[in-house]
Amino acid sequence: MSAPYRVGVIGTGKPWRTEGATGFGMAHSHVAGYQKTGRCELAAVCDIKRDLAEAFAEQYGCAGAYTDYHAMLAEENLDIVSICTWPHLHEPMVTACAQAKVKAIHCEKPMSATWGEAKRMHALCAANGVQLTFNHQRRFLEPFQKAKALLGEGVIGALKRIEGTCDNIYDWGTHWLDMFFFYNDETPPEWVIGQIDSRTERSVFGVRLEDQAICHFKFQNGVRGLLICGYEADLGCANRLIGEEGMIEIGWQAPWLRVRGKGDTEWRVVETAEGIHDSVGIDRAVADLVACLDSGERPLLSSDNAIHATEVIFATYESSRRRGRVDLPLTTEDSALLSMLEANLIGPNAAAS
Ligand SMILES: NC(=O)c1ccc[n+]([C@@H]2O[C@H](COP(=O)([O-])OP(=O)(O)OC[C@H]3O[C@@H](n4cnc5c(N)ncnc54)[C@H](O)[C@@H]3O)[C@@H](O)[C@H]2O)c1
Repeated sequence: MSAPYRVGVIGTGKPWRTEGATGFGMAHSHVAGYQKTGRCELAAVCDIKRDLAEAFAEQYGCAGAYTDYHAMLAEENLDIVSICTWPHLHEPMVTACAQAKVKAIHCEKPMSATWGEAKRMHALCAANGVQLTFNHQRRFLEPFQKAKALLGEGVIGALKRIEGTCDNIYDWGTHWLDMFFFYNDETPPEWVIGQIDSRTERSVFGVRLEDQAICHFKFQNGVRGLLICGYEADLGCANRLIGEEGMIEIGWQAPWLRVRGKGDTEWRVVETAEGIHDSVGIDRAVADLVACLDSGERPLLSSDNAIHATEVIFATYESSRRRGRVDLPLTTEDSALLSMLEANLIGPNAAAS
């Protein structure tokens, strides 16, 4: 067998719900995934907080602990880097990894704070043959896989529409929109019409969020997507696939999957051993990206796929700014939400119109 891949981590964090944790400490989940592959060696880790980097290195038996990721990239000859920092840091870190000629980058979602950053990362890695993935790990969980399989078997006839609901279109919505593209075989979007309301100061992982959002879009194959987010958003399920001859629903709690398809007079529960939050999805995502480095195939979490969900998020913000439909590709670079908040056009400090 060939030598193990040398893995590095940027943003070790502290495990979720431990004292001093600033988030979920996603790096711990990524490393658990690498360890299970049997193909990887944790070579070096980095966090701007020295105590976190050193504690993480000690916990996982790794020699290199850094506080500067540029130094780590210069010295460690890494094959794979996991980026587990907050979204506004993803682009400079992905760029530095690509310039250091790593083979693969596995970055946490959402892709970025602005659409320009997402486009640049995606293009840079494509141009340099760097495998870039974003951790939309739910694609690997059983309820979603079974829903897609049922759709593929024709149980609800031709797909017409996909619906979803969640807390916000950016941090949570990136998962659901990514699932929409998964269900619809990665068909690109054609147009987006949306509206957002931002009346409080909400943020997550350093990025401001809207309080409510509605996003209606068309895929290039005619299927429609509808995502409703935030205050009083409720569809009665988490995801709904509507076909010409039935429906499939993914729930927020067990039973996770049910279907009312051709010939069914009632909803039918489809048993699953996994729910929609299980961490095994992260292990499988890592296993897949490592296997794809060996085979040269495209990983399921490739930025080629993630870019579609990201475009729909920023096009929804842009549609709200333009007060109209946005035909894709989206040509702006910023986040219209962030720009409008900065200019006090929306948000708690907005001038009354
Ligand atoms: N895929 C999922 O289901 C899922 C779940 C939770 C969070 N996330 C995402 O994971 C990302 C990270 O979230 P988290 O909760 O793990 O964060 P966290 O706060 O637990 O960890 C981030 C770490 O990055 C470090 N950091 C900041 N700047 C740095 C720099 N310049 N160099 C090195 N390290 C630096 C911080 O000190 C911190 O320890 C976010 O984008 C979040 O949206 C994804």
